[in-house]
Amino acid sequence: MTDIAQLERDLLAAVNEAANERALDDVRVSALGKKGAVAELLKTLGAMNPDERKAKGASFNALRDRVADAIAARKTELEQGSLDARLSSERVDVSLPAPEPLRGTVHPVSQVTDEITAIFADLGFAVAEGPDIESDDYNFTKLNIPPEHPARQMHDTFYLKPQGDGSRPLLRTHTSPVQVRTMLAQKPPIRIIAPGRTYRHDSDATHSPMFHQVEALVIDEETHLGHLKWLIEEFCKAFFEVSSVAIRLRPSYFPFTEPSMEVDVQCDRSGGTLKIGEGKDWLEIGGSGMVHPRVLEMCGIDPARYQGFAFGFGIDRLAMLKYGIPDIRPFFESDLRWLKHYGFVPLDIPTLDGGISR
Ligand code: PHE
Repeated sequence: MTDIAQLERDLLAAVNEAANERALDDVRVSALGKKGAVAELLKTLGAMNPDERKAKGASFNALRDRVADAIAARKTELEQGSLDARLSSERVDVSLPAPEPLRGTVHPVSQVTDEITAIFADLGFAVAEGPDIESDDYNFTKLNIPPEHPARQMHDTFYLKPQGDGSRPLLRTHTSPVQVRTMLAQKPPIRIIAPGRTYRHDSDATHSPMFHQVEALVIDEETHLGHLKWLIEEFCKAFFEVSSVAIRLRPSYFPFTEPSMEVDVQCDRSGGTLKIGEGKDWLEIGGSGMVHPRVLEMCGIDPARYQGFAFGFGIDRLAMLKYGIPDIRPFFESDLRWLKHYGFVPLDIPTLDGGISR
């Protein structure tokens, strides 16, 4: 009769000594396989009387479980080890200087985001952030878009798997939830912009399922539409680098602003090129409005004392307009030829005194 304790010690030692996943698998087969040591033990049960069989059977099974656990633990250990080895052998030295033809450029979206940030920073705005994966509450409900509100349909939302509590996280459909986050976290006066990624189930030459917006939010005791219009005008002049540009505010509807306006900039489309700041044509760059009192209330701000305004512009769209890029899809295809053509020199950081775009 085999000494079970000795057998267990031998098997566990073999498990721990297995130097790699293949060796471990050999140990597994010789211990737990059809013809393995444990199977041999189990075969001896047949010749025993019922009482003995009951006692030994339980201890054989416990032995089998302990060996199986040890194998599983060793397997995880080995997998982790081979992952670490792979990670260190496949490491890329990112500090190596790239040869000239491979030198990277700054993506137009990054460039334009830096330009926008420089302009608003000069006007006293801070940059606020929020996560790409947002709650339904912040993306919709606290923006006065309750469940079942028809405006939810306009957003072509990407939903994630429901959580344990039944809530369903989503990919934010606009940067407006950063308004909510900011108001919940700080007291007025508030002046922030929030550039970032946004997502909608939509794709063609001018829409990409992932795109970028910049949100602006101002909350204070005496804010009105005049401030909103002035700010957008100042921004457009600085951004498009023109001395004057007309803005048209078209009545529109957003549940979180009242009144709500679409923002158009004056442009000239005659002659095949697009010029901003002259001509008789108009181009839409985003939505705007006075923050709805209900939104202020839901975000803990007293609407009897404070008001404010907000707008949201499409960053990709601003980049296409300013730099004459006709199609949005190549923005996110990582084609080196496109990046080289439309990209920017890495060290030219936009500043108001040094020049916004150069
Ligand atoms: N969030 C709106 C959209 O994505 C734009 C917007 C922002 C409108 C702020 C009004 C105020 O369509």
